[in-house]
Amino acid sequence: MPMTTELTTHLSPAALRGLVTELADRPAEWIHLVRLATEERWYQRLRLTEDHEVWLISWLPGQSTGFHDHGGARGAFAVALGELEELSLGAPDGALHTRRLPAGAVRAFGPDYLHDVRNTANGPAVTLHAYSPPLTGMTRYELRADGLHTTAVEGPEQW
Ligand SMILES: [Fe+2]
Repeated sequence: MPMTTELTTHLSPAALRGLVTELADRPAEWIHLVRLATEERWYQRLRLTEDHEVWLISWLPGQSTGFHDHGGARGAFAVALGELEELSLGAPDGALHTRRLPAGAVRAFGPDYLHDVRNTANGPAVTLHAYSPPLTGMTRYELRADGLHTTAVEGPEQW
């Protein structure tokens, strides 16, 4: 088996960051697709290749993901319109970090990253996400006083 198999099937967080940053700057390619949904976040996959996928997501005020991982995928997302907030547990003490993500903000992360992303603003938001490899599953968590607890393990059929 060639030694490079693992390397060639993943894009790095930096590459994914570049990808969503460029796409967020080209709204003509996706703005006409955006919809808003009150039941849950609206999302549409824009691209699926062997080594990565790209999603377009809209967020109404109050909509959130809850704490989740990405099933070992690397990822990045860019806020193209509106404003979001990201919660994560930081090293070394596991303290809860809150980041404000205004339009233009980009986050990139490795395979072990956990976060909760939400729209706490007054208006809708639109984001571009890229994952490598394409998502195959994710675990959801609930943040309690003593840390994160697993609440669900989901496969692609739940999305
Ligand atoms: Fe995420």
